Amino acid sequence: MRSEQNKRVARYLAGLLVLLTLNSMAGAAQAAGDAKAGRKKAQMCSACHGIDGIAKIPIAPNIAGSPAMYLEKQLKAFRSEERKEENMNVVAKPLSDADIADLAAWYSGITVDVTLPN
Ligand code: HEC
Repeated sequence: MRSEQNKRVARYLAGLLVLLTLNSMAGAAQAAGDAKAGRKKAQMCSACHGIDGIAKIPIAPNIAGSPAMYLEKQLKAFRSEERKEENMNVVAKPLSDADIADLAAWYSGITVDVTLPN
């Protein structure tokens, strides 16, 4: 009986540890970028994604409020052309890792309000 309980506690603690690790990884990814600097750099993105991260042309996605980790991963993939799209490959090419972290901090920091369709 007692060992069953110990196993349950151990499983709970292992789960907690995974959550805490993921959480601190997300925190570290966000802390890396400077949102204020990102806002300035986002001028070069605004024709297509808006300074607010809401798409201004039909072929561009909304990026407001996307996780910083996801945005960074996509920008790096566009830069290396591992992810191919003509506009983004050109735009991402000259970006440094710091530029990417700043841009990710800006766009991920935007709060998105969602209304579901009826
Ligand atoms: C000329 C228009 C244009 C400009 C300027 C532009 N983008 Fe894009 N962006 C696009 C298009 C089009 C896509 C969709 C790519 C695809 O279809 O795979 C895209 C996709 C993205 C994605 C992937 C989103 C997702 O959900 O996977 C990110 C992130 C992104 N852009 C960030 C930026 C940032 C940051 C800048 C400024 C440094 C920027 N873009 C400038 C047109 C543009």
